[in-house]
Amino acid sequence: MKPEWSQWAREAKEQFPEAHSSLLPLLHRIQDAEGWLSDETIRDVAALLDLSTQYVESVASFYSLFYRQKVGKNVIHVCGGLSCAMAGSDSVMEHLEKKLGIREGQTTRDGEYTLLEAECLAACDLAPVAQLNLRFHGHVDAENLDPLLTDDGKEVNS
Ligand code: FES
Repeated sequence: MKPEWSQWAREAKEQFPEAHSSLLPLLHRIQDAEGWLSDETIRDVAALLDLSTQYVESVASFYSLFYRQKVGKNVIHVCGGLSCAMAGSDSVMEHLEKKLGIREGQTTRDGEYTLLEAECLAACDLAPVAQLNLRFHGHVDAENLDPLLTDDGKEVNS
């Protein structure tokens, strides 16, 4: 456990006295610092907030905003929810796997991209939906996705 985490837990509890409510801000803060949430981190956070490890794990694994594995510099989520599946998210994922040379759940060897499937991203009217570094892109296909990947992810943030 990093020494500053105790202080961060105290600050989260000051803002949200209920432990279940202080969990999300604490997880965000630690992930911002560490890049992801390891099993050890989950245990440490549970201890800091006096919550069960299972509860913290269930929250951390529910939200696609939290990474339970080390990720690359850019993270691509492809929605695998029903609306997106019906609109062709499988072929979007296949295209990205081929283009990046990795499978879903993996990171490119140069550490540039991690490709992940997400549950419904709550933008079903834009299906199929993908996120690049948490930025939404609707009606995605090979044609409109490829330009986003050619410039180190910077294009999407402009
Ligand atoms: S199913 Fe993809 S955004 Fe809802």
